[in-house]
Amino acid sequence: MAEFYSRLGLNVSTYDLFRRNLSNLENDLAFYKELAEKTGGPVLELACGTGVVSWAMAEAGFHVAGLDLSESMLAIAEAKRETFPNDVADRVTFLRGDMTDFSLLDQYALIIVAFRSFQSILDPADQRKVLACIRSHLAPGGRCVIDLFDPRLDLLHPAERTGFEPETVKDPETGEVVSRCVIRHANDPLSQTFEEIWCFELADTNGNVIEQAEETLAMRWVYRQEMRYLFELAGLAVEAEYSDYLGSPPTYGKEQIWVVKKP
Ligand SMILES: C[S@@+](CC[C@H](N)C(=O)[O-])C[C@H]1O[C@@H](n2cnc3c(N)ncnc32)[C@H](O)[C@@H]1O
Repeated sequence: MAEFYSRLGLNVSTYDLFRRNLSNLENDLAFYKELAEKTGGPVLELACGTGVVSWAMAEAGFHVAGLDLSESMLAIAEAKRETFPNDVADRVTFLRGDMTDFSLLDQYALIIVAFRSFQSILDPADQRKVLACIRSHLAPGGRCVIDLFDPRLDLLHPAERTGFEPETVKDPETGEVVSRCVIRHANDPLSQTFEEIWCFELADTNGNVIEQAEETLAMRWVYRQEMRYLFELAGLAVEAEYSDYLGSPPTYGKEQIWVVKKP
């Protein structure tokens, strides 16, 4: 997934347009805000991307550090600073770093790894490094929330898949239309990873295609019980488990939303 977001191309520039339409993230910002109100700040967002969650937390009154590997995603997050009042802007710091290996001076009452970003870590040893870093940056009594998709077994067979429906959104500011489509999906059940080729297309207000791009997305799927073992190995205790941001109980094939703490 790291490579998928590395270029300042159509994928990154249109990320927010698609993110706001995702039904599986419905209510996510309110959920994080409510959690932060319980834990207090400061907040650390790992893999913060374009800063959607980080800025929402700062608007809610918390000091936030957002860390991401992608300079392009961070550039978009940083460009939003001028759109916020000074007091909000002053509460946010963005840092370039790798969530498998970082060391910050502060500890955090809430650490967020939103929208399946943990699944960009393809190697189980690196997953454990992320969790160890989280543990060492959690303040006493702090919480960490991690979002994953719950793997649907019917979609994870070794046969290649094609024929996906494109998604289309209109940019309300420019009137341009962006569409994106997975053109090939290949699973590797042995490593629990998949690779997808995504095609992006931008059309002007007359419907003429003015930009096209292809990007490769790689992710690792993680089973529910595997995640429990990973938390246990990392010395993190599961406090709550939901299948959506409205607080529904664990459900096959929806999201895995974990809230963990130091025991
Ligand atoms: C799906 S986006 C999520 C962004 C943001 N958290 C959100 O909710 O919109 C995944 C992000 O993970 C970042 N990422 C991938 N691997 C990373 C790593 N090892 N360390 C830090 N960030 C990473 C990517 O650069 C990308 O910005």
